Amino acid sequence: MSLTINIYYTGKNGSAKAFAKEMISTGIVDAVRNEKGNERYEYFYPEDDPETVLLIDCWENQEALDLHHKSSMMKQISELRKKYHLSMKVEQYTSFSKDNQDFETVIRKRTATRKFQDKKVEEEKINKIVEAGRLAPTAKNKQPQKIYVARSKEALDKIDQVSPCRYGAPIVLIVCSDKDVACVLDDYSTYEMDACIVATHMMLEATNIGLDNIWIERFNKQELKKQFHLEDHIEPICLISIGYKAEDCPDNPFHHQRKDLKDTVKFI
Ligand SMILES: Cc1cc2nc3c(=O)[nH]c(=O)nc-3n(C[C@H](O)[C@H](O)[C@H](O)COP(=O)(O)O)c2cc1C
Repeated sequence: MSLTINIYYTGKNGSAKAFAKEMISTGIVDAVRNEKGNERYEYFYPEDDPETVLLIDCWENQEALDLHHKSSMMKQISELRKKYHLSMKVEQYTSFSKDNQDFETVIRKRTATRKFQDKKVEEEKINKIVEAGRLAPTAKNKQPQKIYVARSKEALDKIDQVSPCRYGAPIVLIVCSDKDVACVLDDYSTYEMDACIVATHMMLEATNIGLDNIWIERFNKQELKKQFHLEDHIEPICLISIGYKAEDCPDNPFHHQRKDLKDTVKFI
């Protein structure tokens, strides 16, 4: 079970919000998110109380939380709190297990992993992942996906021949789509779209059950079809490498560089 802490910081004249803003702008929030065992570190601004800011942080276990309490970050946070003269109310409770996290945690936690341990992935976890793919929506419910779970040495060697992006993962999903099965609307086939939705379901389920992963587009499609004897109408769409990330797996810098919503969303 992981631990969730709710901390209500309350001040006067907007000081709680200013505190949260400074926590974000000085990089403290990102630093805490990168601490070992941190699952969530987020500020919320309760509408009914403009002088309070709610911090929700989740930790993998007590050990991770204890380490956080001893960290230099913690010192900086309490100094900032004093600077803004904030009172503090703390609630702590054990929460969802790592094997079934809330959706927001999952989508925030998922990141491209480019170095995996050699550790085997449990059979039941693989089953959960492919089941998540089975439940994905597809156009006219045609379900054109064909998923090949590469896990034998022979299959993984073949993957390495067609892509530089397995990154040592013990499992690679070869996500394909059957062009003869997919829905065609006005000459447009949804075979690729359907498979991408299936792949996204599986990728997020992998993260949900504590597995690291990466979506891979960089592979030789013709060579993969040849290696795995895929029929002409079976089109490879993407690979997903899945496993447990290596201790020294580099952080993906792009993960923290999302555009502002105003650059990608327009309310019309
Ligand atoms: C359609 C797609 C194709 C991708 N192809 C590759 C790839 O071939 N090799 C690779 O190392 N990463 C690949 N990635 C990972 C992206 O680089 C990564 O998702 C992106 O930098 C955002 O970072 P994040 O996933 O950590 O948030 C791909 C991701 C997507 C969604």
